[in-house]
Amino acid sequence: MSEAIPETIARTLVDPSAYADERIHDAYAWLRANNPLGRAEVPGFDPFWVVTRHADILEISKQNALFHNGDRSTTLTRQIDDARVRKITGTPHFVRSLVQMDAPDHPKYRALTFKWFAPGSIKKLEDDIRALARQEVDRMAAMGGTCEFMGDVALGYPLHVIMSILGVPMADKPRMLRLTQDIFGAQDIDKEEKNRKLEKLPSFLYSLLVKAFLADFTKYFMKIAKDRRANPRDDLASVIANAVIDGKPISDREATGYFTIVATAGHDTTSSSLAGGMGMLAREPALLEQLKADPSLIPAFIEEAIRWTTPVKTFMRTATEDTEFGGRRISKGDWLMLCYASGNRDETVFDDPFAFRLDRKPNKQLAFGYGAHVCIGQHLARLELKCLFEELVPRLKSIGLDGEMSFTHSWFVNGPRRLPLRFEID
Ligand code: HEM
Repeated sequence: MSEAIPETIARTLVDPSAYADERIHDAYAWLRANNPLGRAEVPGFDPFWVVTRHADILEISKQNALFHNGDRSTTLTRQIDDARVRKITGTPHFVRSLVQMDAPDHPKYRALTFKWFAPGSIKKLEDDIRALARQEVDRMAAMGGTCEFMGDVALGYPLHVIMSILGVPMADKPRMLRLTQDIFGAQDIDKEEKNRKLEKLPSFLYSLLVKAFLADFTKYFMKIAKDRRANPRDDLASVIANAVIDGKPISDREATGYFTIVATAGHDTTSSSLAGGMGMLAREPALLEQLKADPSLIPAFIEEAIRWTTPVKTFMRTATEDTEFGGRRISKGDWLMLCYASGNRDETVFDDPFAFRLDRKPNKQLAFGYGAHVCIGQHLARLELKCLFEELVPRLKSIGLDGEMSFTHSWFVNGPRRLPLRFEID
């Protein structure tokens, strides 16, 4: 089997708008059946391997010494953008956070907050998170029977949770929202015009703008860090601000990277899963009846909503040695795209993978990744979703779509963009 992926499929993989409809799933289905580990060559991008089967995604994610995160960009990046980032930071990354690290640094930095995110610690946050969830449901009830769920509820709720965990004042919400949207929403349609303008900027001006953006957030986080060093509290900001590795405090760049990843990684991802689940409830009335009759099905509903949405579509890895994998000769330095949304529709793992089902036991969804980098916030994400649906379902009498649901344009983090709903809530 030739390793080259047909041009039309390769172009779909690098078209952000293809992730907003079924085109990406058609491409994935073709790849799983015909070329599960093929090579994409598209002008403007370095060539990359495309990993579409569940088993291969798990295997590569597990082999963290052979497949590194940090050697090249961890997200698919056009050559022009990659060159600009390297010029500005001297590395393939804007920030250095857990995602961009490998051993020996990665386990040390991950250990700093690992206990904080472990199920036992997260469970202690349940009362506070449930109170925030109840507030959201009360707000929905006051909306008069219609809302645009994404903007009105889904984007705000996980942001409130993460801000309360970090210990960031609620008044800073607009700035925190901007941080996630500028990092994760970089390809969305609202940004296309802005991106075209940015592309045309001379290098030095672009570099100035990016440096100003990074400096603004560094300054913001460093102000919080300074406060927590002087007055440590029981929040995650205090853990990060006072972190010591190998006997030395972590650098400001690393502390900023840590703040940034915690502030952003748990936001759009959880909002998308939440809205993905709500979209399903709105389209399939039988689901609401099932959950109302047996609320113990809510965790299964959430797991399926996460599989269904798979908010993180792709992450990249880089081979550290020449190797044979999946019948292909991969060379040192090659870039590989892990296609989580494809793994989550793999027909050899999931019966009827395009159906939304509550009876997948176990649900082997891999939306949180696997291996050393597996999502550290997965228990928090599940708890946020559980609290919201447990508060909502008993009060929700009916729900349906009140217009067309649309999706964001992105090959990195994507999900519902607009979700107009009509509903009756007690
Ligand atoms: C449904 C919601 C979420 C999804 C689908 C998701 C997905 C992912 C994925 C795919 C990875 C990369 C795994 C890999 O490279 O193997 C990841 C890493 C990460 N996630 Fe999440 N995530 C979610 C929620 C959260 C939350 C709530 C937080 C915390 C506030 C969080 C924090 C992180 C961090 C810090 C990493 C980097 C871990 C590392 O590199 O060691 N995520 N997540």
